[in-house]
Amino acid sequence: MHQLFTCLSTPSLSNRRGTCLPSGNTPQPAILHAPDVLSQPGGDRILKAAADLDAIVSELRESRKYRHLCEDTLNRVGRWAQGRHPTHKLAVKNAKTKLHQVYGAFVEKVDFARLENLTSPLAETDLTITCSEILGCHTSTAERLPFIQELYATLFGITGIPDRLLDLACGLNPFSLPWMNLPEGTKYEAWDIDSRMVSAVNHLFTSSLVKGTSRCRDLLVDKEALEADVVLLFKTLPGIEQQEKGISLQLLRKMSAEHIAVSFPSRSIGGRAKGMPEHYESIAETLALDLGRSMEKFTIPGEIFYVMR
Ligand SMILES: C[S@@+](CC[C@H](N)C(=O)[O-])C[C@H]1O[C@@H](n2cnc3c(N)ncnc32)[C@H](O)[C@@H]1O
Repeated sequence: MHQLFTCLSTPSLSNRRGTCLPSGNTPQPAILHAPDVLSQPGGDRILKAAADLDAIVSELRESRKYRHLCEDTLNRVGRWAQGRHPTHKLAVKNAKTKLHQVYGAFVEKVDFARLENLTSPLAETDLTITCSEILGCHTSTAERLPFIQELYATLFGITGIPDRLLDLACGLNPFSLPWMNLPEGTKYEAWDIDSRMVSAVNHLFTSSLVKGTSRCRDLLVDKEALEADVVLLFKTLPGIEQQEKGISLQLLRKMSAEHIAVSFPSRSIGGRAKGMPEHYESIAETLALDLGRSMEKFTIPGEIFYVMR
């Protein structure tokens, strides 16, 4: 624990911050997507032979790893796999691979029994200590934990303190609340596809002074318009783009928000950079250009943030 608090007082980010305006329409590098054979010529014949969607979804729902995901996600990924793979076995295998890429890989370290223990109820006396432990068990939040205080000071320094904050595909990020310094009554809505994380976040909100709600929502299924002062989409666009090509722009377009803060990892889970910062910068620039938004960039070790206005 001593180590955690030592880490929190790292130097200011101001020297790493800079303005970055959209500079060109760089095409987004292609991400491989298997074709949907059902929507191609002859697809109706294949449909007759295709695996049964209900059976695929039931198997996903019964699996140890994916049974806590929201129904919309299981149905969507089941349908995706059914359209691409002729047999039940192959369809289920590929659906699970897809779910691992976009969700499972990030929660491998999460001890959900411990999470439930820590949050129901949440010990209010040492909220910062509990939240540090929780942030440390999800791959995405663990990486940013040592820089969390400066991260939110820098972010809200750019956007102003929001009255309404929307944290999409939030994972366990709402447990950053003690370092966000949001005033009492701030509306904080947080969505993810894992019902256990959603429930833990709701316990957090119950013990805090913000007006928070967490919901089990799939960003690719939910058609609701999104309204907030600041939207957080941290380390999420690469994952949703793997689920549906072009969805990032569609999603950002339906947001009515003064600021949208997107972030990307600057190295892989294994720790290699492999040109990732340049790759994601060109994606962020293209999105900002298409949306007609300006953007400001700042970094912390392992993560790059673009605040679009
Ligand atoms: C890389 S993690 C990032 C978590 C969090 N935003 C952060 O940076 O701390 C990606 C998150 O996206 C969620 N996710 C994946 N696909 C989603 C979808 N279609 N709709 C909503 N959330 C999704 C996963 O459950 C996971 O928590």
